[in-house]
Amino acid sequence: MREFDERSITQAVIARLAECREPRFKQVMTSLVTHLHDFVREVNLSESEWMAAIQFLTDVGQACTEKRQEFILLSDTLGVSVLVITLNHPAEEGSVESTVMGPFYWQNAPDLPLGSNLSAGVKGEPTFYSGRVLSVAGKPLENALLDIWSGDGEGNYDMQIPGESGMKARGRIRTDAQGRYWFRSIKPTFYPVPTDGPVGEMLRRMGRHPYRPGHIHMIVSAAGYSPVTTHLFVADSQYLDSDAVFGVKDSLVAQFERHPAGVGPDGQQMETPFYTVNYDFRLRPAREGIVP
Ligand code: BEZ
Ligand code: FE
Repeated sequence: MREFDERSITQAVIARLAECREPRFKQVMTSLVTHLHDFVREVNLSESEWMAAIQFLTDVGQACTEKRQEFILLSDTLGVSVLVITLNHPAEEGSVESTVMGPFYWQNAPDLPLGSNLSAGVKGEPTFYSGRVLSVAGKPLENALLDIWSGDGEGNYDMQIPGESGMKARGRIRTDAQGRYWFRSIKPTFYPVPTDGPVGEMLRRMGRHPYRPGHIHMIVSAAGYSPVTTHLFVADSQYLDSDAVFGVKDSLVAQFERHPAGVGPDGQQMETPFYTVNYDFRLRPAREGIVP
């Protein structure tokens, strides 16, 4: 057949995959064509809307640079990133849940001793973080690694602060023989995802705000266990119920307890009120043959 109507076109495109030698690619492309065509039929897409969509995707691509990934932001704000993460990292047997990585991870943060202050020179309310890294069976994991990063107490990551070239509010901490970790940083606050590009314009047209609730990021890993990219969310933060990237999981919401100025958990005198938060991370054993 050479001529197709608005129904037969879908099967015609799928039929052209007959010689495809990669079964998974064939499955994905067949489904993609099916859903894309159904979508175009369902909304009865006009030519000007089709052109606007092409222009939008072109703008998203052109907004990408070495430092900015507008396509990931598009995926994040449409809930695709968290959907992929949730499918691929189910929280099994009580293991800590995963959430989005975001664009502000920086490899090779400094290795710091237990108890370090990650937030020297960083704006924000002092917060003492502590807890344990355990297996799902409850075994303390010695030498587990927490690779930690956050914005400051005003919602800005180091790489967003004009004139700031070094790492701030970042560090890699390892657990002790009892699987315990403790460090000091700040209480994170809500902040917007980048809104000066086409995704920001899309959010405005959708009538959506761009904010994420306050959170601190970490990748938690230990030899022989599946690493987890996750956050701790601040329990009293704004936007917990409407995270712009849908990353909130109830199990990751932590209570930040406020204390008046006085002696901190590290024995030092705190001149201002401070917070403490305690959270245990449970990891599941790595599955043989699966590289996470
Ligand atoms: C973040 O948490 O830093 C973030 C995540 C997704 C998109 C933008 C920012
Ligand atoms: Fe973040």
